[in-house]
Amino acid sequence: MDKQTILDKTRDYIKVELSGDGSGHDWWHIVRVTKTAMQIGIKEGADLFIVELGAMLHDLGDFKFHDGDITVGPKMVTEWLQKMHLDSDTIKKVVDIVKEISYKGSEVETPMSTLEGEIVQDADRLDAIGAIGIARTFAYGGSKNREMHNPDIKPENHDNFEDYKNSKAPTINHFYEKLLLLKDRMNTGTAKKMASKRHEYMKDYLDQFYNEWEGER
Ligand code: NI
Repeated sequence: MDKQTILDKTRDYIKVELSGDGSGHDWWHIVRVTKTAMQIGIKEGADLFIVELGAMLHDLGDFKFHDGDITVGPKMVTEWLQKMHLDSDTIKKVVDIVKEISYKGSEVETPMSTLEGEIVQDADRLDAIGAIGIARTFAYGGSKNREMHNPDIKPENHDNFEDYKNSKAPTINHFYEKLLLLKDRMNTGTAKKMASKRHEYMKDYLDQFYNEWEGER
């Protein structure tokens, strides 16, 4: 199979798997992340085939939807790529991206082992901040039945993945536990630049949110 056929088949597969999700991890998230990853990949001189495959497959079998089981995603991706008859070196590179990509708490390091992985992680994190990031965060919180905001529950720093994963905190806390920290955790220079505008937008949004919450003067 040539590379274009593999990419086309993968796109069709993911579209079926992730369509219609209401928690912000749907097909259109994949479309945006893939587009952003390719933009960064071109600027950073990465292997664009790996970047595109990694971006398209990164949320397949996500632990957030499999009771926290982090082995489902890598297994599904391996099986799919074997079906595409890819060589084991390429499969490993893509599967490593899926394994390593997730945010695991504000005090947990999540290094990527390849440039291509760094790029897909950056693109995924860019989609978690800014206007779209805000929308996705509330959509995800709603899907998990979380309160939007509860001033009595303070944000926490998680130093291990288990606590982070099991947190039931209100959605606004997620800004402090993850979203506002992402700007400084971008891997590539290209993504760092892209992150700063989205970061400022979120800060303005929070100011306005609290203004309205407290009663505007
Ligand atoms: Ni994602």
